Amino acid sequence: MSVMIETHGVSKAFGSTIALDRVNIAAEGGRVLALLGPNGAGKTTLVRVLTTLLLPDAGWAKVAGFDVVKDATRLRSCIGLAGQYAAVDETMTGRENLELVGRLYHLEKKVRRERAQHVLELFGLGEAGDRQVKTYSGGMRRRLDVGASLVGRPPVLILDEPTTGLDPRSRLDLWQFIEGLVADGTTILLTTQYLEEADRLAHQIVVLDVGRVIADGTSDQLKNQLGGDVVEARVSDGSQLKAAVSILAALDEARPQVDESQRRVSVPTHTGAQTLITAARMLSEAGISLDDLALHRPSLDDVFLALTGHMAAETAPESGAASQPPRRSIFRRRRAS
Ligand SMILES: Nc1ncnc2c1ncn2[C@@H]1O[C@H](COP(=O)(O)OP(=O)(O)O)[C@@H](O)[C@H]1O
Ligand SMILES: [Mg+2]
Repeated sequence: MSVMIETHGVSKAFGSTIALDRVNIAAEGGRVLALLGPNGAGKTTLVRVLTTLLLPDAGWAKVAGFDVVKDATRLRSCIGLAGQYAAVDETMTGRENLELVGRLYHLEKKVRRERAQHVLELFGLGEAGDRQVKTYSGGMRRRLDVGASLVGRPPVLILDEPTTGLDPRSRLDLWQFIEGLVADGTTILLTTQYLEEADRLAHQIVVLDVGRVIADGTSDQLKNQLGGDVVEARVSDGSQLKAAVSILAALDEARPQVDESQRRVSVPTHTGAQTLITAARMLSEAGISLDDLALHRPSLDDVFLALTGHMAAETAPESGAASQPPRRSIFRRRRAS
């Protein structure tokens, strides 16, 4: 399969802020590449470079074989973009917005109408289609905006945080829709702060942190980088977290990762159950009281934490908990209250 989106050494600075630092990515045609990273990682900057809205300071980038600088006009005709902030006209109806996009793609009137209607239905906006956008909820605007990027049926679709601000139901609908587009051969680059989203949708995940690519691979490849399982302890009392960290560090497997706000410490291990038992004994001997102690397959969260030393997103989507890998907990205790 051919490479549809490619960057080589792309850098971009805003004054003294380095937004992109020699970024290399390559996305195969007909696949989903997720650009995963926390706020400020440089995701939108890369999206703007790829969609010709921003010139790189250094390096080159191509989409569908067209250079973002030299072939900008031809490149634009084969991409659809849904930006991070809705770009729809508030004073027009949803349908008018979609038909306008069709005009920008030089579609015939009949085709524009059909496509607009199709998108409205697809995104559950059939009823609201003839209302002004200013009466829409945030989620409805978001869906309209993503829908607008589809009117031209572009072979390459670029979605900047498409599900941020969507309720869990709309998020699921959008995921299914994206999967459908990919099945039809569309190449998609999407940015996200949600590991769960990258895990579910992406064939390839590029992890971006402060402008640099820090990992690139499939979800499984990234998880395998950690090797084995992860032992995770959650202390009942935050003041005992430090002591728990030194105990897990003494297991000599890898550097423990700490999430203070969750009173949680985790450590990758190659000797799963044995490490878990040792940890349980040592923590108990040290008089550390636990809410939870578990062994689980690494999640992308663990990968992110191990790579960057911090969590991907401060607030995970509500549906996140349901899709965490199953945890084998040997120890679970309610805090006495
Ligand atoms: N137009 C701009 N002017 C100045 N700084 C910017 C501009 N756009 C982005 N930045 C900075 O570049 C970095 C990357 O931003 P951005 O690409 O928006 O990250 P993300 O989309 O991953 O949250 C941030 O530090 C941001 O403040
Ligand atoms: Mg952004």
